[in-house]
This record gives sequence, structure tokens and C-alpha cells, in this order.
Amino acid sequence: MRNVVCCLLGLAALLPACAAAQDAVEGREIARRWCSSCHVVERPGSQAPANGLPTFPAIAARADLTADRLRAAINPQHNRMPDLSLSKRQQDDLIAYIFSLRS
Ligand code: HEC
Repeated sequence: MRNVVCCLLGLAALLPACAAAQDAVEGREIARRWCSSCHVVERPGSQAPANGLPTFPAIAARADLTADRLRAAINPQHNRMPDLSLSKRQQDDLIAYIFSLRS
């Protein structure tokens, strides 16, 4: 399964024009795979998770959220987030997904 997903991601990288509209969809998959062990990544995300970390819907709802802030959080040099070494493309997809959670 993992290979299939990697293969699909590889294809998406080769076909950026085709994949552009799929950003948020890809981002959701990445979030499920790489972020959901620590964060609640989908709605309903209003209830606080046991580990106290912010849920993605809660992050998305912040009035002062910007793509730059998200990128900084995803590229953690100074905080407790693990370094997941995501590609620029994967980061863009994640950012698109998190913004798509805004109501
Ligand atoms: C191993 C657990 C873990 C994983 C996996 C993880 N995070 Fe986090 N995340 C944290 C922790 C811990 C914090 C709090 C960081 C801090 O306060 O130093 C955090 C904070 C954040 C924040 C900032 C929230 C705020 O309050 O400003 C964002 C955005 C975020 N994570 C996004 C992601 C994304 C996107 C992924 C998947 C690519 C991810 N995280 C995967 C543990 C994790």
C-alpha cells in the first residue's frame, strides 16, 4: 500500500499541472500518513486530543494563520516537532489542505 502511495506521489510530482488542483487532496493524504500519529488532522477536530496538541481544524481556524507560519511549523528547527523532511511540494499540499479546513 505504501509503495502504491509513493508511486502516486511520484506521478503527481511528474505531472505538476495535472496535480495542481489536487493539492488539498494530496495534503490530506500526507496529513493522515505523517501527522495523524500526533495531531487530529480531520474534522471533527474541535475536541482536544489527549496529548494536548492543536488539531488541524483548530489551527486552520486561527485568524492570524498564514502559509509562512505553517511552513515554519512544518520545518521545525526550534520546537518539539519531529523533522519529517517533507519536500516543498508535500509542504505546499499540506498547507493547501490545512487552509481547506477553514470554515
Ligand atoms: C511526533 C509527533 C508529531 C508529529 C508526527 C507531527 N507533529 Fe506537529 N506538533 C507536534 C508538537 C509536539 C507540536 C508543538 C510544538 C511546540 O510547541 O514546540 C506540534 C506543533 C505543530 C504546529 C504548530 C501548532 C501551533 O500551535 O502553532 C503545526 C502547524 C504542526 N504541528 C503541523 C504538523 C504537520 C503538518 C505534521 C505532519 C507533516 C505534524 N505536525 C506532525 C508533534 C508532532
